[in-house]
Order: sequence, then structure tokens, then C-alpha cells
Amino acid sequence: MKSIYPVLLAVALLFTAGCKQREGENQRQPQTDVVSVETLSAESVPQIAAVGDSIAKTLLKTLKQELLSAIEVSGPVGAVEVCNVKALPLTETVARQAGMPVSVKRTSLKVRNPQNRPDSLELNVLRIFEQAKEAGSPLPPNVIQKIVQGDTVKFRYYKPLEIAPLCVNCHGEPEYLSRELKARLKTLYPEDRAVGYKVGDFRGVIRVEMVQPGAD
Ligand code: HEC
Repeated sequence: MKSIYPVLLAVALLFTAGCKQREGENQRQPQTDVVSVETLSAESVPQIAAVGDSIAKTLLKTLKQELLSAIEVSGPVGAVEVCNVKALPLTETVARQAGMPVSVKRTSLKVRNPQNRPDSLELNVLRIFEQAKEAGSPLPPNVIQKIVQGDTVKFRYYKPLEIAPLCVNCHGEPEYLSRELKARLKTLYPEDRAVGYKVGDFRGVIRVEMVQPGAD
């Protein structure tokens, strides 16, 4: 953990200095008026950490249950269809049920669905986790960003996801995926980059964005 903090700080500073040049990187969520981005420890914003963690865990649990029952009923190929139809709506549902305005997203350095592509702030955090993995360090349990954008202060909570045995069914080395599954993936996700993972790899994050709970 200790070795991570200088990296976090450096990335935060780099971004703060460089954010103007990153304008337009994310078309869906332009960050033209981002004034500053700061990386905070969970201890310094315990409420944000608690809310983010709880929402991220709820989404994980919901998606895992859905995956397991879909695989049981119709195998990995059928389960891919279920993911295709349900992953984004389920993510929306979890966000709606949070009891406060939040936006929830799953993203990765290698996405399957282009709708899950990272924006520039998410990219910074994905790289922090990826670099920790490459250095052989344990992943930080979370990363939190404070984003000042115009008059608004927002927080983003990021929970890292590692590849478990269940995940290699659909994200593993292509030679272990059935021909049928690969054909289905190719049809549904012609730009799929989310294969080739091994158990223990860093796969991506759940990102929960919110304003300070209770600060209306
Ligand atoms: C049954 C096949 C299947 C299994 C098993 C599976 N996934 Fe996926 N995964 C998908 C599909 C299909 C998508 C694209 C969903 C969509 O359209 O949003 C996806 C998308 C994702 C994304 C969003 C980013 C992207 O690439 O679009 C993450 C993160 C992710 N999966 C992680 C995992 C993890 C972690 C596991 C294991 C716990 C797992 N997946 C198991 C099929 C699967």
C-alpha cells in the first residue's frame, strides 16, 4: 500500500496540471469545466467510501447472481445473451435504488461493450490499478477522486475487479473459449477486447459517482 500513495499523488497532480489538454476525450461526458481532480484516501472521506463501497458491492452481487443462474440454465453462450441484455439495465437499477442521485458504471482498459469505455478520469484510475498489478503489489481496495467541475463538487469511488475462475468462462484465453461462444461474442461485440485474461488479472472497476451525501 505504502508504495502506491506517491503514485496516486503524482497521478493526481499530473491530471490537475494536464486536464485542459484532455478535453473532448470523452464525448458522452465532456469535462471542459473540470477545475481540479484530487485523489483522496477513504479515511479522509469515510461517508463517500461507505456509500461507494455499498453500492459497488450491491452491483457485484446482483450481476454475479444473474450470471450464475444464467450459466446454470443455458451455459456460457446463453449467459452472454443475458449479460448483453441485462448488464447495463441492472447497473441502472442498482443506481436508482441507491436512495440518492448516483451514477454507476463498469469500465476497463479493455472493454467488451464500447458503451463501457472509460473517460479520461476513469482511465487514470484504471492505470493506477494496472500499475499496482504489474508491480506485483496488492491492489488498493479503492481509489476516490474529488472532482471540482464548475460549481459542483463530485466524488468518484472506484472498486477494482479481479478475474475469478467464473470470469474466464467469457473473458479467458480465446483458445479455451468454445467456437460457439466466440462466434456469439463476435456478433454481439465486434470490437470486443475483453478476452485473454487469467485468474487474478486486473479486469476493471466499478465506478460510483456522487455528490457529498447529505450536502444538498
Ligand atoms: C457469461 C459470460 C460472462 C461471464 C461469466 C463474465 N462476463 Fe463480464 N461481460 C460479459 C459480457 C457479455 C459483457 C458486456 C456486457 C454489456 O453489454 O455491458 C461483460 C462486461 C464486463 C465488464 C464491463 C466492461 C466491458 O468490458 O464492457 C466487466 C468489468 C466485466 N465484464 C467483468 C467481469 C468479471 C469480473 C467477471 C467474473 C466475476 C465476469 N465479467 C464474468 C460476459 C461475461
